Amino acid sequence: MYTNGDREEEIEAFNKSKTGIKGLIDSDIRTIPKIFIRPQEEILQNTSIEGEELELPVINLEGLDKDEERKRIVNEIKNAMEKWGFFQVINHGIPLEVLDNTIEGVRNLNEQDIEVKKEFYSTDSKQVVYMGEYELDKTQAVDWRDSLTINKAQIDHLDPQLLPSICRNEILDHIKHVLKLGNNILELLLEALGLKPESIMKELECDKGWACRYHYYPACPQPELALGILKHTDGSFLTVLLQDQLSGLQVLYDNQWVEVRPVPGALVINIGDLFQILSNDKFKSVCHRVRSNRVGPRISAAFFFTGLATSPKTYGPIKELLSEQNPPVYREFTLGEFVANYLSKPPEEPSYLPFLIKYNK
Ligand code: OGA
Ligand code: NI
Repeated sequence: MYTNGDREEEIEAFNKSKTGIKGLIDSDIRTIPKIFIRPQEEILQNTSIEGEELELPVINLEGLDKDEERKRIVNEIKNAMEKWGFFQVINHGIPLEVLDNTIEGVRNLNEQDIEVKKEFYSTDSKQVVYMGEYELDKTQAVDWRDSLTINKAQIDHLDPQLLPSICRNEILDHIKHVLKLGNNILELLLEALGLKPESIMKELECDKGWACRYHYYPACPQPELALGILKHTDGSFLTVLLQDQLSGLQVLYDNQWVEVRPVPGALVINIGDLFQILSNDKFKSVCHRVRSNRVGPRISAAFFFTGLATSPKTYGPIKELLSEQNPPVYREFTLGEFVANYLSKPPEEPSYLPFLIKYNK
């Protein structure tokens, strides 16, 4: 019988090999190791829609600084948030070159010589972690991806020297542009809630802390058995995702998984749990996952606005939204408390929103 003990040993052995998922593929495996295989019941419930009939809205951000156009954009964002919790943006102002270079940087990082990669496998710094995340969660199927995570959510400083030199400049450029765009989108989201964004944006400091995950999803010989990322909601205020031209991301809509079609030059936007709380549940942080694919690699970069976990500020539903008819669904909390909740959530739960932060009704 396959016991949890065996499972832990297998994961540990996999971690020790320091070669990541790409290492498995390079050794030409035909069947995937057990640690990646999802429970049978889940595999059987195949509820993906891959047709064209349902599609995330693609919002053109051109004309953001003109009153009329801004109204249109805010309205489109409001509709997208109410229906999907996700949308794509085009004409967002980030040069295509910056996006392409980011994808190429991640490709180069993962496709360099294995001995060089091994040296960078994880790091002593908790701020930059490469591939060494597989052991985090021993009860669930392990994700079919090799990721580089940069975490500036707990410390208000990032030493660029900690980043792998092979893609350092590309990553720094990506982060700089995404921070600016994300702040614009946060303003639009506040407007979509009917609020005046200026003073609220300053108060929230969503961009003070952030994390970014650069994902490399190798081709998978048995894509129906493994997922690139298990279903989850993001804990962030806002997530800005760059994906290459291979599909894989799926959003839960009406109990079905809907593919997010790659649109050249577009970025995928979604809110996370923290913005759902700010909106007092008006906008929802929606479940999503990443399929694995027979072809690959698929490359993506997910940037999360998290706020700074060490901040003494408290967060909760935005006061201007509350009334007798719309009482707060959540109590006030600090981001430190929020992160602590996240770490104590049962791993099989896709979201930690239901834990502790909600008022008990
Ligand atoms: C994430 C995520 C989607 C993707 O990193 O939280 O949902 O397409 N990524 O990589
Ligand atoms: Ni996500």
